Amino acid sequence: MEQSKWPTIIQGGMGVAISTWPLARVVSQAGHLGVVSGTGIDTVLVRRLQDGDPHGHVRRALKASPWPDLAQSVVQRFFRREGRASGQPYARVPKWSLDASRPRVSLGMLGGFVEVWLAKIGQPGLVGINLMTKIALPNLAVLYGAIQAGVDVVLMGAGIPREIPGVLDSLSQHAPTQMHLDVAGMPSRDFPWVKFDPQDFDSVASTTLKRPAFFPIIASHSLATMLSKKANGSIEGFVVEGPMAGGHNAPPRGPKQFDEAGQPIYGPRDEVDWEELAALGYPFWMAGGLGTPRGLKYALDHHAAGIQVGSLFAFCRESGLNPRLKDQVIQTVRAEHPQVYTDPIGSPTGFPFKVVQVAHTLSDPSLYAARERICDLGYLREAYRDAAGRIQFRCAAEPIATYVRKGGSVEDTVGRKCLCNGLMASAGFAQIQRLGEELGIVTSGDAMDAMRPLVSRGDGHYRAKEVLDYLIQDSL
Ligand SMILES: Cc1cc2nc3c(=O)[nH]c(=O)nc-3n(C[C@H](O)[C@H](O)[C@H](O)COP(=O)(O)O)c2cc1C
Repeated sequence: MEQSKWPTIIQGGMGVAISTWPLARVVSQAGHLGVVSGTGIDTVLVRRLQDGDPHGHVRRALKASPWPDLAQSVVQRFFRREGRASGQPYARVPKWSLDASRPRVSLGMLGGFVEVWLAKIGQPGLVGINLMTKIALPNLAVLYGAIQAGVDVVLMGAGIPREIPGVLDSLSQHAPTQMHLDVAGMPSRDFPWVKFDPQDFDSVASTTLKRPAFFPIIASHSLATMLSKKANGSIEGFVVEGPMAGGHNAPPRGPKQFDEAGQPIYGPRDEVDWEELAALGYPFWMAGGLGTPRGLKYALDHHAAGIQVGSLFAFCRESGLNPRLKDQVIQTVRAEHPQVYTDPIGSPTGFPFKVVQVAHTLSDPSLYAARERICDLGYLREAYRDAAGRIQFRCAAEPIATYVRKGGSVEDTVGRKCLCNGLMASAGFAQIQRLGEELGIVTSGDAMDAMRPLVSRGDGHYRAKEVLDYLIQDSL
């Protein structure tokens, strides 16, 4: 497969709203692949509007969407010119469900559209969107919105995105589309469908849409082999992410082992055979601890088309991370060795999740313990079947009694963190709850020391363009 068509650097998708459109846009303009995050993008959309949409970007994008009536009603319902009064919570929208209402689904579609449209408008560069396979309910709507905005690449990990290639084929033809929903404890042949019909939204069916390229995010060459054989449509490349990457990590293969701090230990079985991967004939990008000129050289020397980098971009000026948290992390990197903990149980998904130790965030055990459990966003809930055979949803970070009533076990609730609220808060969209404002949680890859060359000058803050210049200095 032709490799030169694709850029060397992929700026990794980082949710919630860390890789926002301004970041993806500058990376894309510089000739690389800028990736926006589609995770929780419906909530991000309505919260931006409630915060006054300061430069009018969101309203401008909504106006340009193929659904002006829907867009108008969203603006009417959520836009507050003066922002929220101090102490006023964000208006809540219903959690996703299999029979979500048309207005509810439209928020996902519009969210995907707005984010991609703003990253792409008026410039010819490539823009991708990142979604988590596990968060299945909003994905079809968000993808359709993104495709309508001309997204070039879809990148999805956190699960096995076997049905996504077919979904992209179907959505780009405005056809009714469906995808299975994994349900805990149910045989896969009985899994219900998540459905989305573009015709429900009066889209302009005559417009020809580009089918975006699809890059699954995987952690092993065997999964690449499986997907290349069993996916229901075409795959154009792979991102291969190792355990040093920020965000969620794939769990180690084989028997579970932990170091003295309780972090999962990865071993030889987790190593990727680059020769075997290359033999499949797809371009691929390596991710996880490779965000250095040496890392890029290593990747290029081992048949990769380049690298996907997250952490360095997460803390640059254009990222969506709350500026106070960004500054705290940057000053820590300048002064000492920052602590990143691979939390094996923190995420309700059950996947290891990397947490930077930052004051006044949920990484502080006492602040975590003081938080009243509440599940009002619900993206990470798992589907299960109740006694009456109906599909319901539960999250191990929700109130313990509720989770247990839904058939979950108490042991599974221990140490679970509400990443939905924590990550929204880190991006500057903290909900105000009964006991106060939600605290953030910051994630990053293990290789934070790699930021040092970028943070050593001036006040330590740097731009995305500096990351690109640093990475490609003389390794190509
Ligand atoms: C703050 C942050 C958030 C991330 N969120 C996601 C995500 O939502 N989905 C995803 O597929 N990868 C996510 N990642 C992983 C990145 O896309 C990328 O693969 C990874 O950061 C590369 O390794 P590095 O951190 O060593 O550069 C995230 C990484 C960071 C640092």
